[in-house]
Amino acid sequence: MTDQLKAELLELALEAALRAGELLRDGRPADLGVAATKSSAVDVVTEMDIASEKLITGLLTDRRPDDGVLGEEGASIEGTSGVQWVIDPLDGTVNYLYGLPSWAVSIAARKDGETLVGVVHAPMRGETCRAVLGGGAYVNDRPVQVRPAPAFELALVGTGFGYRAERRSRQAEVVRQLIPQVRDIRRGGSAAIDLCDVAAGRLDAYYERGLNPWDYAAGELIAREAGALTGGRPGDAPSTDLTIAAPSGLFEPLQARLDELGAWHD
Ligand code: IPD
Ligand code: CA
Ligand code: CA
Repeated sequence: MTDQLKAELLELALEAALRAGELLRDGRPADLGVAATKSSAVDVVTEMDIASEKLITGLLTDRRPDDGVLGEEGASIEGTSGVQWVIDPLDGTVNYLYGLPSWAVSIAARKDGETLVGVVHAPMRGETCRAVLGGGAYVNDRPVQVRPAPAFELALVGTGFGYRAERRSRQAEVVRQLIPQVRDIRRGGSAAIDLCDVAAGRLDAYYERGLNPWDYAAGELIAREAGALTGGRPGDAPSTDLTIAAPSGLFEPLQARLDELGAWHD
């Protein structure tokens, strides 16, 4: 796998993310409507999620017609090149709906199951986070590194909640038990940005159950390239069961604690 391929995929991911970010920022209707609901009535998809995915997949398939595409809002192309794009056209939809600034476009490119490129573009934060496998992580062209691991009880830990009531109440139970043992908990509302915040040293750690590949594919590479360890249950890669990112020294006790608390099941 050549550096040239990685560079080409990065350039295209950046172009697509910047264009979609501009569409979302400039095109946000004052009376933003909810186009459909997904897993529950609070899991919304707006007309803008759909427009963003259309723009991104249109650009990607135009430039690289043989690639596969997996997008949250239904894009699904098998492809023949071995490259698969994994897209969340708007991560943090509820923030976007309410006019809160933490939302992002997340685009990753994978080959043979390995993430090669990740871009998380957050227009209202004025930040574009990116990583190429083996090439480090950057926020707006500034190289970033995770914070050194603090003692467990001093860790600022980001997390999130799914949309279904039964899952959320389990997740709240895990947080209830974790919060007295750490510095504090943050719930930012965009998994992709949370992972970038670990990369940039703005969170010590992040974990969440129930993410889909489009939520974490780009951010996980960015966190890893910034020096984080990433994983799921002990011995597992990040997955829908559980995604964890933290520097070595914090990752291990957090992973063990989350496993004890059953953070990986409903
Ligand atoms: C959601 C956000 C949120 C996380 C949820 C995701 P969406 O994605 O990343 O922070 O807690 O699990 O589903 O619906 O805004 O694309
Ligand atoms: Ca998402
Ligand atoms: Ca989304």
